[in-house]
Formats: sequence, C-alpha cells, structure tokens
Amino acid sequence: MMRTPLVAGNWKMNGSQESIKALLSAISSGSTNLSGVDIAVCPPAIYIPVVAQILAKSHIAYGGQNVCEKEKGAFTGEIATSMLLDFSCKYVIIGHSERRSIYNESDSLVAEKFVAAKQAGLIPILCVGETLDEREQNITEKVVARQLDAVTAVDNLDNAVIAYEPVWAIGTGKTASPEQAQEVHAFIRQHLTQSNADIAQKVQILYGGSVKGSNAQELFAKEDIDGGLIGGASLDAEDFLRICQAAV
Ligand code: 13P
Repeated sequence: MMRTPLVAGNWKMNGSQESIKALLSAISSGSTNLSGVDIAVCPPAIYIPVVAQILAKSHIAYGGQNVCEKEKGAFTGEIATSMLLDFSCKYVIIGHSERRSIYNESDSLVAEKFVAAKQAGLIPILCVGETLDEREQNITEKVVARQLDAVTAVDNLDNAVIAYEPVWAIGTGKTASPEQAQEVHAFIRQHLTQSNADIAQKVQILYGGSVKGSNAQELFAKEDIDGGLIGGASLDAEDFLRICQAAV
C-alpha cells in the first residue's frame, strides 16, 4: 500500500510574527514544485491567524500543537477544536511527550482530546513514545501499546496520524537509528492490525526525534516510516525543505 508521506513541523514555543513570515515565505517558495509529500506546520496557537492568512492559498497545511478536550465554556487559557477549525486548521498534535511529561497529560486525557479533535473534523497527530528509562528496561513496546490502546479503546485511527517520538531522541540530537525506528513503527502497525487491519495499513506513522536534513532520507527509506514530525529543524527553512525532499 502506498501511503503519502507527511512532513509536519512542530514549532513548539518558538517564533515571532516577523520570523514566521520569513520562515513560511522560504518554505512555500522552496516547496512549490514538490509533489508526493504532504507538508504541514504547527505554530504556537497565537500565531495561527497569521499563518492562516499567509497559507490561505498554499499547498502547505497547518494545525495546532494542542487542543482542549471540552467543547466550550469556562476553561480559562484553553483553545477549542472549533477555534482551530475557525482558522482552517487541518491537523492538531495530540499527546506530545512535552504535554504528557511537563503538563501531566494522562493517557485518558490524551484519548479525550483525540476524540474531540476527530469529532470536530481535525486530523489528530497522536504522539507516542518511550523514555530512555523505559527503553533501557526493555518495555518500549509495552509503553507504546498502552498509549495506543488508551485511544483505540474509545475511537479508531481512521483519519488520524501517529507520530512515534522516542522521548530520549527529542531535542537531544540523538536520533533513533533507522532500524530502531522501523522496529517500533512495524510494531505499531502490527498492534493496530489487531483492531482494524485496513486502518493499520492506511495510517501514516511519522518518526519524530532529532530528524534533520542529513538523516531524514535513511529514516524515510524504511517501510513503515511515512514521514516525520520535526521540532528544531522545522525552524530552519533550508533544513526543513531538505527533510521534505527526502520524503518524496
Ligand atoms: P526535535 O526534532 O527538536 O528533536 O523535536 C521532535 C519533536 O518533539 C517534534 O514533535
């Protein structure tokens, strides 16, 4: 089965109106002739209107980095799925490891957010991945299965994307080797096959964790790696474009 690769930039808490304009202009002009790869950026929420305006007629999609599981109301500081849609977001990252570890998002909260996103018509990018301690204890598959099961217990992964992001590889410059990543990606697909074989074949599984222009090609060459979720390197137009090219 041919899955279209997706390269998504997670800008995290970085940027300014000025830097975003320059970055998007370079990414847009550098990728106009690229076909066969879906490209998206996930800016800090406050910049979504700026990004929406710049990318209104672009081939580049965009999305949120997080969303509230509730529909609306007295939830100070939160952003609703309807608000992301109001600015034509296509994607939303759900359960990023920084949300899980720094903001204590549990598997069940992540599942609620996933359901809310899908019901609203957003494409959730569900992040899963083990810590270094968990990898050293040889429980990577158990952890990833638990994170996936929390979601598949209440919803399916149709019209969703998975990002495998080993926590020890995020922002550390340490990338999982293509073999290490492929092993977990294959496990994820096989695990999902148990609940729905069609969806398991269809779902894009992105790798995230220190992907750069220099290592993207060997990662994306692996059978079950369908693109990447890019942190640091997505803030550099040249590097991000090299990663997009590597996915074609
Ligand atoms: P880095 O690419 O900076 O390691 O971040 C990965 C990530 O967390 C993307 O969501």
